[in-house]
Amino acid sequence: MILKSKDLLGLKDITKEEIQGILDTAKTMKLIIQSGTKKTPHLQGKTVITLFYENSTRTRTSFELAAKYMSGNSVNISVSTSSVAKGETLIDTGRTLDVMGTDVIIIRHSMAGAPDLLAKHTNAAVINAGDGLNEHPTQALLDMFTVMEAKGDLNGLKVAIVGDILHSRVARSNIWGMTKMGAKVVVAGPPTLLPSHIKDLGVEAYTDIEKAVEDADVVMALRIQKERLEKGLFPSVSEYARFFGINENIVKKAKKDALIMHPGPVNRGVEITSALVDGDSSLIDTQVTNGVAIRMALLYLMTRKDG
Ligand code: CP
Repeated sequence: MILKSKDLLGLKDITKEEIQGILDTAKTMKLIIQSGTKKTPHLQGKTVITLFYENSTRTRTSFELAAKYMSGNSVNISVSTSSVAKGETLIDTGRTLDVMGTDVIIIRHSMAGAPDLLAKHTNAAVINAGDGLNEHPTQALLDMFTVMEAKGDLNGLKVAIVGDILHSRVARSNIWGMTKMGAKVVVAGPPTLLPSHIKDLGVEAYTDIEKAVEDADVVMALRIQKERLEKGLFPSVSEYARFFGINENIVKKAKKDALIMHPGPVNRGVEITSALVDGDSSLIDTQVTNGVAIRMALLYLMTRKDG
């Protein structure tokens, strides 16, 4: 049995062995994606529902493709046209889906803890596809898979995560996951976007990006959420790009073979230059491809009787 819980709510509460089990299973799933047929019977007779209260392209689509590649039934609930718009609570929505015989519910919600709440009130397995500022575990799993595929191992690598750490659930899940797998994680960004408690998570924090990126094996830029501008947390997009954007000069401080990553969606020319996004060291497209393999692995493991 690889996974101990019926749900995947975050990487904070799962073990290194569970993470390794998911990553190993994803290797097999990637071979299936690369094969011509893209069809297995692993999810035959199983129903997967995506319940997204926030926008998504990569996460939602990759879960739906993952279910289809394994012969499962996948249904997307459009929150704006569902009974949620009539005021139905999250618990009642979950119960409704449960009694229809749903096996897995994948939820994205603006409230941290919403997947936990749903999981407590459903028999279906619940996967967190991003909850508020808390976690985005499947993104971190696909990021770890991508680094391991390129470098062989995460143990001993230096990973620099740069940008809006304060509001990033991707950063938080990667910190939990990558440190468990033995990587040294450093974070960097404007002082207003670095949470005061971040060092308690076992990472180094910098406001000087050059220092953070020095000798890094991986440089991961995070999306700058332009809505943060309204709160005055940084002065302007162009100033952010000038002082905190990842560009060719910054990357020269990292190791020669450093990998460039970004969870997407990218604001080209803001948190990272367009040339780096499309450059030879960029793994951004590979991250998206690997997202399908990771989600296939999770759906498979979470619907097996022996997990
Ligand atoms: N990285 C990520 O979560 O992308 P989406 O918002 O498109 O799902």
